[in-house]
Amino acid sequence: MAIWIPDLSSREGPKYLQILEAMAEDIAAGRLAAGTRLPPHRELAYQLNLSPNTTSRAYAEAVKRALIKGEVGRGTFVRSADFSPDQAEPETLLRESRGPIDLSRNLPLPGFSEPHIRRVMSEIASDTGLRALLDYQTDTDLVHHLEAGQSWLADCGVEASLECIVPVAGGQHGILCTLMALLKPGDLLLAEALTYTPVLAMASRLNLQTGAVAMDAQGLIPEAFEACCREANPKALYLTPTLQAPTTVTLSEDRRAEIARIADHYGVILIEDDVFGPLKCDKPAPIARFAPDLTVYVTSLSKSVAPGLRIGFLHAPRKVASALRQSVNLSVWMTPPMPLEVASRLIKDGTAARLAEQQRQTASRRQQLVQRALGMDTAKQFSDGFHFWLPLPEGWRADVFRSECARMGVHISEGRSFAMNAADAPEAIRLCVSHEPGEERLIQGLDIIAAVLRQKPCGTPLTL
Ligand SMILES: Cc1ncc(COP(=O)(O)O)c(C=O)c1O
Repeated sequence: MAIWIPDLSSREGPKYLQILEAMAEDIAAGRLAAGTRLPPHRELAYQLNLSPNTTSRAYAEAVKRALIKGEVGRGTFVRSADFSPDQAEPETLLRESRGPIDLSRNLPLPGFSEPHIRRVMSEIASDTGLRALLDYQTDTDLVHHLEAGQSWLADCGVEASLECIVPVAGGQHGILCTLMALLKPGDLLLAEALTYTPVLAMASRLNLQTGAVAMDAQGLIPEAFEACCREANPKALYLTPTLQAPTTVTLSEDRRAEIARIADHYGVILIEDDVFGPLKCDKPAPIARFAPDLTVYVTSLSKSVAPGLRIGFLHAPRKVASALRQSVNLSVWMTPPMPLEVASRLIKDGTAARLAEQQRQTASRRQQLVQRALGMDTAKQFSDGFHFWLPLPEGWRADVFRSECARMGVHISEGRSFAMNAADAPEAIRLCVSHEPGEERLIQGLDIIAAVLRQKPCGTPLTL
């Protein structure tokens, strides 16, 4: 049977993309049937008078786009036309990684969303609605974007009416807009003693005061929050009640209800950051459900679909929704309608929920790898999500532990970098299981951490 040689004569642009385009067209037109074996990339390079690097790059890209698949020892084959990108092996879709093993960054597993976003973008490109997306929007957001937000929020456990939904350019933007709209210089913003520190940087830029609320093994302590309210008259409390950043603790329903009660009693605004919420399987209702008139609920698609979309939604108490919209307006005029359209389509056709599920399952498998590598006694705090919090055995200082891991080729974060008061920080580290594309390097990194844990603790940095 004749081997496949693409016709590149009328094509322009980089050669590897020409090959890719020709392949996609031939598959779509049935000229390359499912199961067809493609020529080895060296053979194709020879036939096309190109370098093997070019054909290898074209094949690698085609694998990523789920057009073809490689089978060890057998060759490269065209995938079936009705193959859904959901079925692709994650390994074919993940980011490349070299150098030190990076367990310090709390990012979603990459690649799952790529084929879906590619599809949706091409649908948008040929849709007459594109023109409206390219224009400045009027004073209201596009209704179908709000409806998508409503559906995403419902999946998060928040029943929202459209006028309370504010699309934002990611969770971080949502938090900043909230602080800008609802707090003024000098106001006191409380946060969990260990927290997502960019919020502290925002507070500093906005000349807010900040205060830490004590936590225990179950998360923020309601009595400590109440004491702060009594003594210091805070304006707002920022918190991550689900898969807390960085400790991974999920607050119980009782504590959520109690925090809502205290906030109501003292008139404190709650900024509930739930960007990790979609990664948690069984969780209590959001605090926004207990205190809807006081809570700005922040969600985004960054951790479950793709951070590069930069799309999130706020659910605001009715009386402050327009102030939040003004903050969006002031900062970016309007949340970029193009990625918002992509996100909305993914939400509406169910893809976003499926992608969140894919992230959840993979993260959970990886969390098990942590427990396997470090041992159940050490890694007690099994959680869903991408990060893992590890209090260090007696005698270890977290900065020393981190440098020792770095010396052995693994990057992690020390607990102190999340502390509102460095002096009170526990000697602990945070590991993230999702930045490394393949499980092999993750396991290698975890084995190194396990080896460092077996060392005699040292309280001062080693001299290299
Ligand atoms: C707790 C927390 N909130 C918010 C964000 C920012 O999310 P987004 O990418 O949606 O802006 C992050 C990002 O890492 C985070 O860890």
